[in-house]
Amino acid sequence: MAGQAWAVRCQDIVKTYDTGGQTVRALSGINLSIALGELLMLVGPSGCGKTTLISVIAGILDQDDGLCEVFGQNLKALSSKHKLAFRAENIGFVFQAYNLLPALTAAENVSVPLVINGMKRRLAERKAADLLEQVGLGSRTTSLPGQLSGGQQQRVAIARALVHGPRLIVCDEPTSALDHKTGHNVMNLLKEVALHENRSLVIVTHDARIFEFADRIAEMDDGHIVQVRDRQTR
Ligand SMILES: Nc1ncnc2c1ncn2[C@@H]1O[C@H](COP(=O)(O)OP(=O)(O)O)[C@@H](O)[C@H]1O
Ligand SMILES: [Mg+2]
Repeated sequence: MAGQAWAVRCQDIVKTYDTGGQTVRALSGINLSIALGELLMLVGPSGCGKTTLISVIAGILDQDDGLCEVFGQNLKALSSKHKLAFRAENIGFVFQAYNLLPALTAAENVSVPLVINGMKRRLAERKAADLLEQVGLGSRTTSLPGQLSGGQQQRVAIARALVHGPRLIVCDEPTSALDHKTGHNVMNLLKEVALHENRSLVIVTHDARIFEFADRIAEMDDGHIVQVRDRQTR
């Protein structure tokens, strides 16, 4: 099946928001595919639709029109229960605002996807602690989000997106709160996961310092993809 070469296939995706009688067209016919093992970066001005697009790709939002397939599965065709299960198994998402649970420690936050997938809590927290070590937070496993800096919270959110071994990882501005060195470490980790385990990554970013990690860069403007280029030919 030709579709198996692709992690994500978006065809003619349209999404509008209705707010108080006013309609905002956030996505105006998006066509974009992401290969297995590919790291694709999504760039473009604020408000151009980047978060909306990755939310559709991650099954968090339903498009109004068009088709979005993830590993050959039409997300919109799934019931909400099946969609939740599909996401829990296959997709890791790093939100721009971290979305950590404030009453849970770093290790407990990271272990949530494993517990949702049925793993015993103690084993899940041990795996979570291992991954926190890898993102440089081995000494902060018992800290609450409120006791961590923005950059540290972002690394907890990244660990949470990776811990269950999802085949697709979607990140909204993952390095924006990180200093140069930590940002590079996090990108190296994400790239390693993509390359060695054939996972696919979509990363929204404004951070030109991390463009070197991309296989392709898709540029958006006003609800459209205006250009997709290979990193080498920039
Ligand atoms: N929940 C929402 N309700 C209404 N409008 C929204 C909502 N989310 C985003 N928008 C609008 O949709 C457009 C695209 O937003 P977004 O996808 O967040 O862009 P970006 O991530 O590129 O900054 C913007 O005009 C934004 O104001
Ligand atoms: Mg955004």
